[in-house]
Amino acid sequence: MKRICVLGGTGYAGGAIAREAAGRGHEVVVFSRKPPAELPPGAKSVTGSALVRADIARAASGADVIVVALAPTGDLETSFVAVNADIADVARILGARLGVVGGAGSLLTEPGGTKVYETEEFPARFKAFAQASDDVLHELRASDPELDWFVLSPPTGFGHYAPGTATGRFRLGGDVMLKGNDGRAEISGADYAQAFVDEIERPAHRRARFTVAY
Ligand SMILES: NC(=O)c1ccc[n+]([C@@H]2O[C@H](COP(=O)([O-])OP(=O)(O)OC[C@H]3O[C@@H](n4cnc5c(N)ncnc54)[C@H](OP(=O)(O)O)[C@@H]3O)[C@@H](O)[C@H]2O)c1
Repeated sequence: MKRICVLGGTGYAGGAIAREAAGRGHEVVVFSRKPPAELPPGAKSVTGSALVRADIARAASGADVIVVALAPTGDLETSFVAVNADIADVARILGARLGVVGGAGSLLTEPGGTKVYETEEFPARFKAFAQASDDVLHELRASDPELDWFVLSPPTGFGHYAPGTATGRFRLGGDVMLKGNDGRAEISGADYAQAFVDEIERPAHRRARFTVAY
């Protein structure tokens, strides 16, 4: 059993991870500004702002793993990279592992190829969002070697607009976006969360980014 603090644990990705982790018997704390309407059985809620380092430290106190499922929107739009650096520092000081929900945009279209968000097909309205997520990955790759982190990037067809269902069948990859034979790059919220919690239980990607898709 691990103690897992999910920052943004009431959102789409964070909520799925919190449910999966609590369902497997881990001790889960979800952190958000507003208290959740509903909590996974056994989980606890801590409210606060990710902009306040003391709030993050309070929520993460005693955690074995700190999950970052915040999004670069709203009051985090311009501070996302700095807030993630603060969270990484809190994790390093607490000796906690850091697991970050990444973006699809920073994945490569093919080995040695272009980043997905730098292609012409990538929607312009999501570019700043994808860039912020890529900047966080860049900072983690340059971080203190003492920090034990992983980033799990979903494919482009992941998000609250396409929740899908739990299948328990998916593939893991590295820096290149995975696509099915039909050309689709997708993963449901539940299957993404399963891969994420698998990594928490059996670390296979230390100081590395990986991806998951059908
Ligand atoms: N296909 C893709 O590449 C893709 C698609 C979707 C998401 N993602 C990734 O997944 C991550 C999470 O996205 P999401 O769609 O799951 O986000 P979301 O549903 O908007 O959830 C955001 C969470 O963060 C909390 N939050 C927001 N601002 C906060 C603050 N200042 N302090 C504390 N908590 C705060 C929210 O709760 P409160 O509002 O109550 O604070 C909520 O729990 C993003 O970083 C994104 O890169 C990737």
